[in-house]
Amino acid sequence: MSMAPLTSPGPAPTATSGSQLLVAAAGGAPLLMRQLFDADTGTFTYLLADVSSAEAVLIDSVFEQHERDLSLVRELGVRLVACLDTHAHADHITGSWLMRQATGCAIGLAQVVGAENVTLPLSHGDAVDFGGRHLEVRATPGHTDGCLTYVLDDERMAFTGDALLVRGCGRCDFQQGNAQSLFHSITEQIFSLPESCLLYPGHDYAGRSVTSVAEERHYNSRLGGGANERDFVIYMANLHLAHPHRIAEALPANLRCGKPRASASGASQPQLTTENWAPIERSYAGLPELPPSWVGEHLDAVQLLDVRSSEEASGPDGSIPGSQLIPLPELTARAAELSAERPVVVVCHSGSRSALATQKLLKAGFTQVANLRGGLRAWNGVGLPMVQQLPSSNA
Ligand SMILES: [Fe+2]
Repeated sequence: MSMAPLTSPGPAPTATSGSQLLVAAAGGAPLLMRQLFDADTGTFTYLLADVSSAEAVLIDSVFEQHERDLSLVRELGVRLVACLDTHAHADHITGSWLMRQATGCAIGLAQVVGAENVTLPLSHGDAVDFGGRHLEVRATPGHTDGCLTYVLDDERMAFTGDALLVRGCGRCDFQQGNAQSLFHSITEQIFSLPESCLLYPGHDYAGRSVTSVAEERHYNSRLGGGANERDFVIYMANLHLAHPHRIAEALPANLRCGKPRASASGASQPQLTTENWAPIERSYAGLPELPPSWVGEHLDAVQLLDVRSSEEASGPDGSIPGSQLIPLPELTARAAELSAERPVVVVCHSGSRSALATQKLLKAGFTQVANLRGGLRAWNGVGLPMVQQLPSSNA
């Protein structure tokens, strides 16, 4: 049996404004860039934010990772101005439409794709502004006829989608793919960037996350090291790859920018789990959370579970009126004391032990469970009521 940690994980965070947090999250640099990964499809998603304005863009989101991406946007305090796709993907469904519903951001995709729900149709030479920064749009067809590469304004980084992958490139055998076009796109639009320009791909399946123009010019297995157009075209014609197994589902959905399509039998694409008993927000840590303000207004609708020790609960910190005490070390053995009919909101001093308790209850089969975000520190911080003596169910 594992022991609960006896020591504090560290000093409580000091008051940090949203902008201070973003400055720190960017490592003190004027631009924040985060690379996210979807292990199921090997897809990279990128968040770019201009620190001074807190405006951001998201590139190549994944439908099933929407909550992860949205929680990062919220926790960093950035305002998403656009959700961009490098192309109409065949292997995963974009999260663009979901992100627009959540944040009001624009949906950017190549105009030539002709997809529904695009609000920012893009063409070669366009610029996508976010704060004081922008991405230059370069048409790089060949993998599909609507592939775009987004180049950062200072040409220090570029997001190549599937046009150029680390030591490889996207296939050319469907979606109007064309190996000659791809050769010219890569050599003229990507290899023309400074040799030190970092290249961020749309996918990788071997644990590689970034490359550079210089590396790919030398070592790309398909068109580096002086390979010419003929070499490349013959190479691509002989790949004979299997069809992506999700193409039949992903392409039509991506031609709606990921907007789900309802059908008589239900939805035609994966649905996100909706936790409709409360305005649950999933943290970047992956935890369902509720803010103190909502919980304070709905005390009658939930059962509040306090997982601190009985000494803490009856001590000077006090307790939330009506809460039920089951200390974290006893939770597994005593979970049956909770009602299966009413949603559970879990509480502790700072929200960390309650986070573990929330995970334990979810694992035990409770479906309506949320952590009180920030714990009693946050509850007290907004002046919600407390009592000094907790009526313990175990007295
Ligand atoms: Fe692709």
